[in-house]
Amino acid sequence: MTLNTHYNKPTLVLNNNQKVHGKTAWRSPSNIALIKYWGKKPGQIPCNASLSFTLSEAHTNTYVEYSNRQNQAAWIDFKFEGSPEPTFAAKIEKFFRTIADIFPFLEQLSFKIESDNSFPHSSGIASSASSMSALSLALCSIESALFGTLDSPQEFYKKASYISRIGSGSASRSVYPYLGAWGVTDRIAGSSDLYAVPYVDVHESFLSFHDDVVIVSADKKSVSSTAGHALMNSNPFARTRYEQAKANLSKLVHVMKTGDLTEFGKIVEDEALTLHALMMCSDPSFILMKPKTLECIDRIRRYRAETKAPIYFTLDAGPNVHVLYPEEYANAASAFIATQLEPLAEGGLVIRDQVGKGPMKIESA
Ligand code: DP6
Repeated sequence: MTLNTHYNKPTLVLNNNQKVHGKTAWRSPSNIALIKYWGKKPGQIPCNASLSFTLSEAHTNTYVEYSNRQNQAAWIDFKFEGSPEPTFAAKIEKFFRTIADIFPFLEQLSFKIESDNSFPHSSGIASSASSMSALSLALCSIESALFGTLDSPQEFYKKASYISRIGSGSASRSVYPYLGAWGVTDRIAGSSDLYAVPYVDVHESFLSFHDDVVIVSADKKSVSSTAGHALMNSNPFARTRYEQAKANLSKLVHVMKTGDLTEFGKIVEDEALTLHALMMCSDPSFILMKPKTLECIDRIRRYRAETKAPIYFTLDAGPNVHVLYPEEYANAASAFIATQLEPLAEGGLVIRDQVGKGPMKIESA
């Protein structure tokens, strides 16, 4: 893949005799999209702009130790939660090769990378956004430590988002506190298809919103997000979908500013159901929701109709139900979730999360 951008930096190479050894570590959160990214063009370019809440509790910690690469030594030694994880190690190697034009020094170093997630391994929560953003942030810290670059926070996070995007599209949004927007839209100044931008021009109630994830099934997904995106290329509703996403984003930006929760919920639920409808009408078709996903949705809608409480759902590319509500309804929502949704969760697992402050450096380079 050719990356024709100003980030291609052949000058970021170590001098022949330069001895380096250092460590860095980052904690980076997962995110939940309100406007969904579903469908992409070559080079990890989204077909529509997306917007997400950055989460707080669901995160990945990534520790990177680097030193000069010795001829025989392994390039990347990767451990996940203390054990070697060859599938993920191969993914990281592929990622490093893809970004070698941007970080040519990667091939001059060898790496010991250790990673762990705050959420249970078998919770069915996707970790590509948190893991790819944590790793990308670490790589930017290494660039900064070795070459004295990226000294303004704005430049640092923009590049980290750019690199994260190459690893996994949705990861680009995880590098910012509260909300991140990725993809060109005339509704958000400075937005880009190449990196996400921070988005906080919203009513304050959204900065402390809750997202409790009801784990309906922790099984591995039958179709990966990457394969799902590819099926959009032949989906007969693709063009209409991209127009709908554009219209929904416009409306959402407006209602999030005014704090209109009813309209917020309408748009967010529409996005979730559209995402799954697109999967159902792909060729081949696939269904990631489970009967209990629908049961959760039904109970949330019934509870809302009865109590008028602003409690909404969204879905990721999987069966688990994200329950969204404002802080002032936390007590009522907690009681509802405990009595009505927890019994539908696998092993009673509900991950309580909230909009968060973004990534954090946990050890310096
Ligand atoms: C449904 O970012 O996981 O969660 O770019 O192929 O890594 P790749 O896909 P990924 O897709 C996320 C899809 C989604 C919606 C979203 O997060 O916007």
